[in-house]
Amino acid sequence: MEHRTDSPYPATDRPILAGVGVVLVVSTVLFWWADRTHDWRYYQYRFRQMVAERFGADKAAAVPSGIQQVWVSELRRADRCQTCHQAVSWKGFETAEEPWRTHPPEPIRIHPVARYGCTVCHGGQGWAIDTGPAHGEVAHWEEPLLSRWLGESYSLATDKRALIQMNCNICHRYDRETKGAEAINLAKRLVREKGCRACHVINGSGGTIGPDLTEVGDKAPEQYDFSRLSGQKTAFAWHVAHFKDPRALVQDTVMPNFHFTTEQAQALAMLVLSWRRVAVPAAYLSGAPRTEPRTAEEVKREEEMKTGPGAWFVSTGCFVCHSISVFGVTSPAQIGPDLSIAVEDVQKRFGRTIDDFLREPTGTMAVVLSRQIVLTPEQKQVAVQKLREAFAEYQRQQQASPTPGNGGAR
Ligand code: HEC
Ligand code: HEC
Ligand code: HEC
Ligand code: HEC
Ligand code: HEC
Repeated sequence: MEHRTDSPYPATDRPILAGVGVVLVVSTVLFWWADRTHDWRYYQYRFRQMVAERFGADKAAAVPSGIQQVWVSELRRADRCQTCHQAVSWKGFETAEEPWRTHPPEPIRIHPVARYGCTVCHGGQGWAIDTGPAHGEVAHWEEPLLSRWLGESYSLATDKRALIQMNCNICHRYDRETKGAEAINLAKRLVREKGCRACHVINGSGGTIGPDLTEVGDKAPEQYDFSRLSGQKTAFAWHVAHFKDPRALVQDTVMPNFHFTTEQAQALAMLVLSWRRVAVPAAYLSGAPRTEPRTAEEVKREEEMKTGPGAWFVSTGCFVCHSISVFGVTSPAQIGPDLSIAVEDVQKRFGRTIDDFLREPTGTMAVVLSRQIVLTPEQKQVAVQKLREAFAEYQRQQQASPTPGNGGAR
């Protein structure tokens, strides 16, 4: 062999060049192979077989191949889910395994795929064409697939698939009820019954003792204090625990413990997390006008609570535990007795005047007035006066209609 080289390392040149050559060939093969083995090719191949078995070769030949995409410009979504989920709009694959199963017909009959895509309801990463990334199982992806699996990992008490309803409610926020979103409906009912608006602004109306909840679903994970939370450290878990026992997480909060069941707390967590600021075009918002419909009676009750003669008890926080029924104030939690008759009741029970009782309270009220609601002597005078007014109103109502129980609980 001829010796012709300028290289100072003739002995290593050739092995290096040979090595580089081999790497190039191998990586070319690998790239080609990786593209061939995208899972979707297999899913499409298998779907075509299934169509052929059931409907014949002609139908199978008409099944589209390659990447399938729905582009919904108004929602700015490019969803390629049907690249694998090809059976979505087919009949006859209702019992097939995923991803070859026919879609439940009702949701996409009301919300046609061409106009809605998939991810507005399901979440996930629309443009991805591999299973993991499409289902949003990637770090920092903000819209995970709200699937049964996620519901299982969140230990949902009843319907493991319910998480998808959070996305329904982004458009259906102002509906009083939405068929198919039963967990959200339950939570909306609780929000009305428990009088959350006495303390919170929700959808633009309500009180200011607690924070405005209209966009609470946008709170970033860093804004939560997880230090008192055991188990999963997610916004969902935080809200569930907070609904079950607000003080366990926020020591000095006046938010009452409503003794919600797990199912109720989870439904409420879904509801509050769906309250996000999402730019949805008006045509995609269900319900008009775009305010929450409330019955005349509900509006009246809230107004009465916030501005009526019992407003002092609401703004001071007494109503967290006490109803003052003669003033139309209903306590969400009803931990203490109705204060309408406190003036008389304190005298009967403790043999003390109401002034005296508030100056040196005993039992629960000793704790409440030293830790939760600290009143100056002047404020205590106001309290006494308000309690007297309530009792006077009670007596007046008694005389007007002396039926037993009027002015009692509720
Ligand atoms: C690469 C193929 C592929 C793509 C793309 C894909 N999926 Fe899937 N999907 C699957 C497979 C396979 C399953 C069956 C479960 C499994 O093994 O992961 C599945 C299951 C599901 C399920 C059932 C979960 C459950 O709760 O049982 C849902 C919902 C779903 N996909 C939604 C979507 C949405 C929405 C998109 C688009 C953002 C999408 N998929 C894109 C392959 C895909
Ligand atoms: C209007 C909202 C909506 C749209 C749009 C929508 N889906 Fe669904 N999808 C649902 C609902 C609701 C279910 C039934 C979920 C349930 O009961 O868990 C469902 C069920 C599914 C399932 C079966 C999951 C299971 O739990 O059994 C898959 C897979 C799926 N959808 C994929 C898609 C794909 C792919 C698209 C787009 C072509 C799409 N969906 C569009 C609402 C929607
Ligand atoms: C992108 C917005 C959007 C999402 C997400 C969405 N919907 Fe809707 N939905 C609408 C609009 C808009 C209408 C009204 C359609 C019409 O009147 O033609 C509607 C209509 C309906 C109706 C018919 C009854 C009615 O109120 O008129 C039901 C039931 C319904 N949606 C349930 C759901 C459920 C359940 C989900 C979640 C799985 C969901 N929707 C997700 C926008 C949405
Ligand atoms: C007596 C007043 C009061 C009532 C009634 C009340 N809350 Fe609260 N809520 C508060 C206060 C104060 C806070 C802030 C301290 C805390 O996190 O507990 C709060 C916090 C919250 C938070 C967390 C907000 C955030 O930014 O982290 C949510 C969610 C919430 N409340 C929902 C509700 C719901 C739903 C109801 C009705 C079932 C309700 N609240 C009833 C006073 C109240
Ligand atoms: C955290 C709950 C809670 C809050 C907030 C609260 N209370 Fe009480 N209060 C109670 C309980 C429980 C009792 C019954 C205690 C007992 O019987 O020993 C009670 C008893 C009373 C009584 C005696 C009533 C009777 O009929 O015997 C008065 C008066 C009273 N509270 C006034 C107030 C006032 C005024 C406020 C607001 C400044 C207030 N409370 C806030 C829980 C609360």
